[in-house]
Amino acid sequence: MNWAVTTYDSAFGYVSAHGAPLVDLLDPQPGERIIDLGCGTGTFTAQIAERGAEVLGIDGNPEMIAQARALNPGLSFAVGDAHTFTTTEKYDAVASNAALHWMNRDPDAVIARVHAALRPGGRFVGELGGAGNCAELIAAMQTAWRVFGLGEPELPWYFPSPAEYAARLEAGGFTIRLLEHADRPTRMTEGPDGAADWVRTYAAGALAEVPPELVEPLLARINDLAAPALRRESGWVADYVRLRFAAVRKADTAAAAPEAPPGF
Ligand code: BEZ
Repeated sequence: MNWAVTTYDSAFGYVSAHGAPLVDLLDPQPGERIIDLGCGTGTFTAQIAERGAEVLGIDGNPEMIAQARALNPGLSFAVGDAHTFTTTEKYDAVASNAALHWMNRDPDAVIARVHAALRPGGRFVGELGGAGNCAELIAAMQTAWRVFGLGEPELPWYFPSPAEYAARLEAGGFTIRLLEHADRPTRMTEGPDGAADWVRTYAAGALAEVPPELVEPLLARINDLAAPALRRESGWVADYVRLRFAAVRKADTAAAAPEAPPGF
């Protein structure tokens, strides 16, 4: 599955960003003020800072922020919910790497907060799981849950199609400059127990609902179910599908601008 729409705009320093690191698509400039939304432990925040931008990492998880501060002394971090955060100043860009798919409560609210944080012309650049992301992993989970009489697992992710996310961005006051939807099979180098390790790490909430005596047999079944699609001779591969975009905040319309004082 591959779907890509790409346009070039001089607001971005790229010609073809397909497969390039997200920081190159963001193209931070020295002195720019940039938010890393859903910064986790600050890896992407540090990459942005290395380009000379002033960056603020925001994450909803206080433990992540504590770790980000410990790992990146000298960088700025704040605890904040992407659905509700506000800023006192306007930023040149908001970037988000592998985090927007966790912000599943109200994607339009997240886009609205990003819009409010940006100056007109400011950039919103991100990468998240797109429609079809982890389809084999999720199918294995759902089948195993059913086999063990557990109903449907509650999945905490939002994996939009390019058409859906484009519509949300445009309705939210952005002009899209680049939108790519592409497979990115990814080796599970940190999970020797394959799909089971992936579920332990990323679906811990769903797993917490499972009676303790069923957890290990359930995970073993997930591995059996997922192996034909995801286990190679060289190891396990996660069936990631990425949605990557770059958008620009539109100028305020006359209707949205504050009214001029009477008499002018
Ligand atoms: C990802 O696509 O990066 C991802 C999705 C769900 C859980 C963990 C990672």
